[in-house]
Amino acid sequence: MLQAIKYNQGNLEILDQLQLPFVEKYIPIQSAEDGWNAIKEMKVRGAPAIAIVAMLALSSELHLLRAASKIPESPEEARSLIVARLDYLVTSRPTAVNLSDAARKLEALVTNQAVQPGATGPEIVASFIRAAEDMLGKDLEDNQRIGHHGAEWIMANATKTDTVSVLTHCNTGSLATSGYGTALGVIRSLSSRNVLRHAYCTETRPYNQGSRLTAFELVHDHIPATLITDSMAAALLADASVGVGAIVVGADRVAANGDTANKIGTYGLAVLAKHHGVKFLVAAPLTTIDLETRSGGDIVIEQRPESEVTSIKGPRDGAEAAESMVLDTVRIAAPGIGVWNPAFDITPAALIDGIITEVGVVEKGPTGLFNMASLFNDST
Ligand code: MRU
Repeated sequence: MLQAIKYNQGNLEILDQLQLPFVEKYIPIQSAEDGWNAIKEMKVRGAPAIAIVAMLALSSELHLLRAASKIPESPEEARSLIVARLDYLVTSRPTAVNLSDAARKLEALVTNQAVQPGATGPEIVASFIRAAEDMLGKDLEDNQRIGHHGAEWIMANATKTDTVSVLTHCNTGSLATSGYGTALGVIRSLSSRNVLRHAYCTETRPYNQGSRLTAFELVHDHIPATLITDSMAAALLADASVGVGAIVVGADRVAANGDTANKIGTYGLAVLAKHHGVKFLVAAPLTTIDLETRSGGDIVIEQRPESEVTSIKGPRDGAEAAESMVLDTVRIAAPGIGVWNPAFDITPAALIDGIITEVGVVEKGPTGLFNMASLFNDST
């Protein structure tokens, strides 16, 4: 399986996604600062992966401090060291809630004195490290469950035939998580059941997560798939011979009413799905659901640099470089033009047929509203 994140007892390495699909290079992350920079520069991206890398980056730093006997004995000092680093890490990217959710939970773990009465500084650090390290395995299991629930739902609701074609957007696979993926996990699950007729992935301008990363994963797994530009989605859905049965996307934050922030272009796909009578599904772990945010209007949308829109990456000049696929940034937009580059958009809950999580698929009730809180009841 492709691995975006490799971690072993304080040794964290991430696959540098800026160099994919041509160069598969792992880079070490040894501190919260390394993690912050890798997330900001999008060397690692995708809501679950961002959260895991941030927490493991801090774990790695704490391992190094421990090896150098620099963990404060005083519990207060150990707590404030961890909390300061967590506060810093959450400033790297604002939209995906997984990062602030993980930071808040681990902060609560180390600051709640009732959980570890009388703990020393090194004991508090050890409990942080254990909890951060547990995130990798938990995320993988959750994704496999999401894949299972999503595939079952789609086969029961989105197709009248034995197989289904699915369109997805951005990258939500192994590269965006600890492995398997969310929306791409659903596609993987359909494929492993031999019920996936064909997968379609959008290019996902401007950062091209679809053409660079999702296409890479689909080819890697030998899943029958076709790449389209973002502007081809309407024509694809209109083509009866293609017969797309469902669009499945991931999420960076799902508000309490089901409004969903995800990669720019998701909203447009949901509008198209409604027009064409195609099921539109969001696949996300519970850590992406933010009951404290009432609706999509309250979600902060990250603005990215102009250069992502005005330029593309192409082979560097010179035959030798082109052969080795060294990429350079090439400007394609007219100099002087203004640019708007929101990284995400909000899909209103009204356009979403179901939200696939590790505990099941939530659909709208008779009132036409999602009951997101029901996902957090043990009985679900
Ligand atoms: O800007 P990115 O690449 O981090 O955006 C990623 C997405 O929008 C994904 O769909 C989302 O994070 C879910 S990843 C399982």
